[in-house]
Amino acid sequence: MNSPMVQKPTRNLALELVRVTEAAAMAAGRHFGRGAKMDADGAAVDAMRLLLNEIEMDGKIVIGEGEKDQAPMLYNGEMVGNGEPPILDIAVDPVEGTELVAKGMPNAIATVAAAPRGTMFDPGPMFYMSKIAVGPEARDVVDIDAPVKDNLSKIARAKGMDMGELTVVILDRPRHAQLIQEVRDCGARIRLIPAGDVAGALMAAWPGTGIDVLMGIGGTPEAVLAACGLRALRGTIQGILWPRNPQDRQQAIETGMDLSRVLTLDDLVASDDTFFVATGISEGPLLDGVSYSGGFVHTHSLVARGLTCTVREITAHHHLETLAAISSIPY
Ligand code: FBP
Repeated sequence: MNSPMVQKPTRNLALELVRVTEAAAMAAGRHFGRGAKMDADGAAVDAMRLLLNEIEMDGKIVIGEGEKDQAPMLYNGEMVGNGEPPILDIAVDPVEGTELVAKGMPNAIATVAAAPRGTMFDPGPMFYMSKIAVGPEARDVVDIDAPVKDNLSKIARAKGMDMGELTVVILDRPRHAQLIQEVRDCGARIRLIPAGDVAGALMAAWPGTGIDVLMGIGGTPEAVLAACGLRALRGTIQGILWPRNPQDRQQAIETGMDLSRVLTLDDLVASDDTFFVATGISEGPLLDGVSYSGGFVHTHSLVARGLTCTVREITAHHHLETLAAISSIPY
């Protein structure tokens, strides 16, 4: 007799969502290095919307991209899918790192996550969050409220490394001057990235990237996306909302947000039934970028499911002539 815990295999939505991020990455890939971030974002949004609406799901976009810089949007509240169950929250970032694509730089990705309706954190007006993200070995030892040195020494111990062997990924921003100094004072190494802290957070949990921890202030929507991925990679992320100025602080208070609360992985996505996919637009430690050869466009994706912690890498070869004949999207 089967044990009561044994379940039949169920649908892995990530295997369908990967077509969405592949399409977005291929559409954005045409704009690589062309100096026009809105064009890249617009192309990726159109491709993403088209493919999302082909999926059997009742999806509501709760983490949409674009409000911050008036980019073309898959907007918050937009319904996607064919309206049939499962009933889901959807987080999207058609181009995570628009500036990276415009300038032809590494580490841009197209990404989507899904989780049961009502389980994703609502960032409200708070665009920024202080974050720490790590992989499975260090997930039980980090504390965003603790000094940088304490976290780094605990991460090093958990990973069986010296502090001087750790690499911390940090967004290259003036607001991080003190953090960078504190990390340097510990003797740890730093990879400064110009943008893209969803990829940064996942790198900390994905073997072979050479990254051990993400630290610093980045987007709150990006933290929710990263949390969905980290569920499957068995890492973790913690965050504290970060007001840029007194107006942000006031808005947070008015909307009932607690600026001292540590938001855990469970707060950012309150379910382990998550799906996360990302396709590389440009190459980086996490993913290869979109490339072209022999009449094909090649894509590389991470396809992750929180419930089973199965993470697949999918390399796909899309035949350009056939795509041009059947699709409305210029790939
Ligand atoms: P875009 O996808 O809008 O280009 O954002 C990229 C990004 O670097 C995120 O990865 C990060 O969380 C956020 O911007 C940081 O914001 P800022 O550039 O304002 O410091």
